This record gives sequence, structure tokens and C-alpha cells, in this order.
Amino acid sequence: MTEHSEDLQDHLHNRAQASQQWKSSRRLRIPVDPDLDPGDIPLESINVANPELFRQQLQYPYFQRLRDEAPVHYCAESQYGPYWSITRFEDIMAVDKNHQVFSSSYELGGVTITSTPSSSNEIPNFITMDPPDHSAQRKAVAPGLAPRRLAVLQELIRERVTDIVDNLPRGETFDWVPRVSVELTGRMLATLLGVPQEDRHLLIQWSNAISNADDPAYADSAANFYQTLAEMTDYFSDLWQTRKADPGEDLLSMLALGPDTAEMDQKQLLGNMVLLMVGGNDTTRNSISGGLLALNQFPEAYEKLRRDPDLVAGMVPEIIRWQTPLISMRRTAVADFEMHNQLIRKGDMVIMWYLSGNRDPRAIEHPDQFIIDRARPREHLSFGYGIHRCLGNRLAEMQLRVLWEELLPRYPKIEVVGEPVHASSTVFHAIQSLPVNIPG
Ligand code: HEM
Repeated sequence: MTEHSEDLQDHLHNRAQASQQWKSSRRLRIPVDPDLDPGDIPLESINVANPELFRQQLQYPYFQRLRDEAPVHYCAESQYGPYWSITRFEDIMAVDKNHQVFSSSYELGGVTITSTPSSSNEIPNFITMDPPDHSAQRKAVAPGLAPRRLAVLQELIRERVTDIVDNLPRGETFDWVPRVSVELTGRMLATLLGVPQEDRHLLIQWSNAISNADDPAYADSAANFYQTLAEMTDYFSDLWQTRKADPGEDLLSMLALGPDTAEMDQKQLLGNMVLLMVGGNDTTRNSISGGLLALNQFPEAYEKLRRDPDLVAGMVPEIIRWQTPLISMRRTAVADFEMHNQLIRKGDMVIMWYLSGNRDPRAIEHPDQFIIDRARPREHLSFGYGIHRCLGNRLAEMQLRVLWEELLPRYPKIEVVGEPVHASSTVFHAIQSLPVNIPG
């Protein structure tokens, strides 16, 4: 184990040295004219995998055009190379559940379209594996997120939520993202992983550095990607040994004891920590911010919620649909496959745009409206579909539900008072800053 750890550290150190070049070679953001009508762009020239579209929140009319005119769309040239876009709800489900043809394997490129090495085989984890390896590792972690464990976590979540929301300032502008969204998910993540609470800032710092590694503005000022992985390797190797000797109910202990995971090498341990950190942290965090923003954008929904707080339970999945914290997931075709008269060839990169599927009127009534009392609010794609469907979905919903249950009686209105800052990413639909005011 120690030997592997040293090998991995050397490798990460070398990659950190080389990463200056990697950083400056990134030309991912292509300028977008916000006044340009996507209908005027030749269909074959549309490249939705442009982080700038999402930073400016201009993506929806582009996706509408693809859904209507080219539901299986080929982009021959992009910063990431050629790729297919799948944009309709039903088609995304079809690809997501067909893991025999559409592989998640890290050996083929993994599950994200980013150019960062996070999607490569440098840090494999079970989201970037196909059966049977995927199934064995997923099984080891699943009990940590099962209903019995969630019942225990609910009390902890409520305690932490109460502590956070009781201390919010009134009558002054503050940033909702670090104060509420990051703080709550950071505390929960530490509990989930079995990391001492006093180290939760490390998880937040690492998670930010990894999920923003594709954003030149962020990465230049943040700890570099490989440096972060090297720090995580040290930290989790130590904690792994501690949990092996003295296991708790956390996910790291489950991996340390699981028959299929106990002998995991350092790379896989690191990969799975990245998955659980980023999967559990950024997604839930951005749903917390996105929900408050949505309620401010749809004041009639906010008013309805104030009148009937029981609507919180149904509102939570609607927040998760509306925000769609993971914009997209990638697959690689391992066989030729025909869809809507287009031939996807073996080896092609295929992107499922969850954000587009969740706005597809063929599947969701009035998809561009935030409706907190939908008849079937859980019918969305935000958690994916098929064998990789999100393991933390119930935990994420619970955090949001408890938060709103505690916010409503204390603060009937939380006003968004400035422009939100959206991340420059084709994967994370992230809100980096949200200025708010709670009337005093
Ligand atoms: C609103 C919050 C969340 C959203 C939108 C979300 C979304 C997703 C999506 C889209 C996938 C991939 C599904 C696919 O490929 O079909 C996924 C997988 C996963 N998520 Fe989440 N997630 C959230 C919260 C969480 C939380 C709190 C955890 C807990 C740590 C978590 C752990 C995981 C894991 C472990 C996987 C991999 C499952 C597998 O490969 O079998 N997620 N999530």
C-alpha cells in the first residue's frame, strides 16, 4: 500500500510539474454573442459543448433547436474533438440504460466531456466502470446511502441546518452560496465520508479545485489539479488505515471492509473519494442555490409555498429537475448504433445532455416553468437512469427538504438582490455566487 502510494505520489508530482503547459493549452471557452439567434447558425456548426454558453446561461434555445431539428446531432469539430449530442428526454433514457453499447469506462474516456484528466484513466472510480467491476464497487458503498442510514442522517442534517439557518444575518446583503449551500453540504459530506468535521474545509477546497479544473479563471488561482490529488492521496491513505482498524458507519469504512473493495489500490481509493466528494458536494450545493433562485424568478410559486409549506416535499424534485446540477454525461459507443437515422459508430463520443432532456416538452409539461406541485415531479433525468443512476439521490432530496422545512418558518422571504454568477462548465451547472437579503 505504501509503495503504491509513493508511486502514485511521484506520478502526481510529475503531472503537477507538467500541468503549467496543460493549463495554458486549454482553449475551451469560445466567445458567444448573446444576441445571436441559434436559428441563424448552420445546424452542422452548432457546438453546444462550449462552457461560455453555460456561463452566460444562453444554452436553452440551442438545445431546443437540436431537439427539434437534430435530436442525434454530430459536431465534427470542437475543443474536445468530434462528439454526438443526444438532447431529447426519451433518447437520453435509451442511451443511459443501454450500457452494453454505451460504455462509461475510464479506459475509453470516462463520463465527462471535459478536457481535464479527471475523465481519463488517471483516477478511475466506479462511475467510470462497466459491469462487473462497477456493480461490485457500487454494492460496497450502497449501504452507506440506504434508508436505514438515511434515517440516522436526517437528525444530523436537521441539527446542522438549524445551526446554519439560525445564524443568517437580516437586513444585509450576503452571499448565499458559501454561507448556506457550501456550508451545509460540506458538513454533511464530512459525516458521510467519515472525515472529522474540523477537516471539512479540505473537502470543500479539494472538491472546488477538481470540479473547476476546466475553468481557466478558477484553476489559475486555485490549487492545481494534481497538487490537489496528491494532497487527497496522503490524507485518505491515512484515514483508510484508521478506518480499517476502527470502522464506523461511513462510506470510507464500508469501502475499507467491503470484500470487493478492501484490497483496492491507491488510485481506485483516490478515484472513489473524488466521485463521492464531487458527486455528493457540488450537485447538492447547486440545487440548494438553484432552488432559491428559482423561487425568486417565479414569485407566484414562492407565494404558493408560503401559503402551503407542505408543498416542500414535491418542490424538492422540481428544484432538482429545474437546476439539473449535472448538465451532461458522456459515453463511448462500443458498437455501431443507429438512432433517428444517424449512425453512431463504434468508438464515437456520445454526450447525453440531461439539462436539455429536462426541458423537453415531449416528456415534461411546461418544462420552462418552475412548478412546485407537479403531478409526477420525480420524472426527470437529473439523477441519470440505468445502472449508474445516482446512489445519493435520496440523501440529496433529504438535505433540500430539511433545509426548506427549517427556512420557511424562520424566513418567509429570502430575496435575491443581485445577479448570480454561473460556472463556466459543460458538466457542472453551478452557481458560484448568489447575493441575497433577508428583510429585517
Ligand atoms: C441533487 C444532487 C445530485 C445529483 C443531481 C446527482 C446526479 C448524479 C448523476 C447524473 C449520476 C450519474 C447517473 C448516470 O450516469 O446515469 C450520479 C451518480 C452518482 N452519484 Fe449523484 N447526484 C446528486 C447527489 C449525490 C449525493 C449526495 C451523493 C452521495 C455521496 C451522490 C453519489 C453518487 C454516486 C456514488 C454515483 C455513481 C453511481 C454509479 O456509477 O453507479 N450523488 N449522480
